[in-house]
Amino acid sequence: MHTLQDRIETLMWENRRSTDGFTYTLPSPELYPFQWLWDSCFHAIILSHFDVSTAKNELRAAFSRPLSDGILPHIIYWGSDTAATNWGREMRGDIINKAWGVIGTSAITQPPIMAYAVWRIFENDGDEAFLREMYPILEAHYRGILKDRVLDDRALAFIVNPDESGEDNSPRFDIQQGLPAMHSADQSLDRRLDRIREHAVCQFQARDCMSKYFAVADLPFNVILFESLGYMSKIASLLKLEDDASYFATTADNVQNAIKQTLCIEGVCRAYDLNSSQSIETITWAIFMPLYGGLLSEDEAKRLVDDWLLSDQRFWSEFPIPSTSMEESSFDPVGGFWRGPVWMAPNWFVYKGLKRYGFDDVAETIKQKTVDLIELSGFREQYNPLTGEGIGAKNFTWGGLVLDME
Ligand code: GLC
Repeated sequence: MHTLQDRIETLMWENRRSTDGFTYTLPSPELYPFQWLWDSCFHAIILSHFDVSTAKNELRAAFSRPLSDGILPHIIYWGSDTAATNWGREMRGDIINKAWGVIGTSAITQPPIMAYAVWRIFENDGDEAFLREMYPILEAHYRGILKDRVLDDRALAFIVNPDESGEDNSPRFDIQQGLPAMHSADQSLDRRLDRIREHAVCQFQARDCMSKYFAVADLPFNVILFESLGYMSKIASLLKLEDDASYFATTADNVQNAIKQTLCIEGVCRAYDLNSSQSIETITWAIFMPLYGGLLSEDEAKRLVDDWLLSDQRFWSEFPIPSTSMEESSFDPVGGFWRGPVWMAPNWFVYKGLKRYGFDDVAETIKQKTVDLIELSGFREQYNPLTGEGIGAKNFTWGGLVLDME
């Protein structure tokens, strides 16, 4: 019998590729044949459990193609133009190759978890040279985000396309995308392609132009940002870059305070649409991200866990955690993609948040159910929260995060 760790290691090695002297991991060879930014951070964290030097190489590759403003792109195509052209619908491939305004990568980003990933790798072997090597790239990325994506008056970062949240079709963005609660995957894709066309007209200038079409201060993005700015401060301080350390500490505080002020009411936090100045009411798993960021009081955290996570009506399905609350009219447990099915990265974020607040039993149950999903249905992209059935891409890497539920 192979242990779960053996199976994860085999999957990670099988999905590994190398191009131009870089090595990286495909999230799923059939369906996702490129390198994705936040996936690679998850991969590095998974790999650090059995091969720290490969984990470092994963990040080296993911960070190798910054955009001109220093921001790291969410996909690197690694020269697979044919794969890119044929990827998804024909039009999508065409857009991907021609409309980003850059060659070989996309021109949008994903949740900024990179500094956390670097720090986690560093914790394994204390290799300061690795920190020194990564620091300038990270510095340019976070300064780029703070410059292009954070509003002066609110200190919240905004995303310009739902894909930047990592949750491509989450119902959090339906109103901004002009979509009804029930719509097809094609309709969602069409709207996201509209954003790319508008952005091309903007020449990918986020602050003054792309933001007119879509600007959402998303909750996970901002929680991950403030936490990672804190890690930037730690890294800078270790490298004796005191000015940088205090700059990143201050910006981390600003983002943290802005989340509390603008996104949260009595411990329930939501995304915020900057164009309509309205809070986004749709409830998805993102409601639990403040636990991961340690943003709530003990009382608020307890209420969030009791009233939302452990509620059979909302998130406590047979196999938690549904990506969208079961109470939402958009909830679709099979074909919903981010509108119902369970994804492993959210389970990992919520596990970490629960541990942080001492909800060890609930965290343990989530871990056990996550393992059960893998045992039952293998390494799939998503799972039906009601039955545990696997959905979407096969040989998908995110299940490996269970190694980091500790
Ligand atoms: C899907 C997910 C996104 C991920 C990508 C590659 O688009 O929504 O979060 O980065 O697949 O796995």
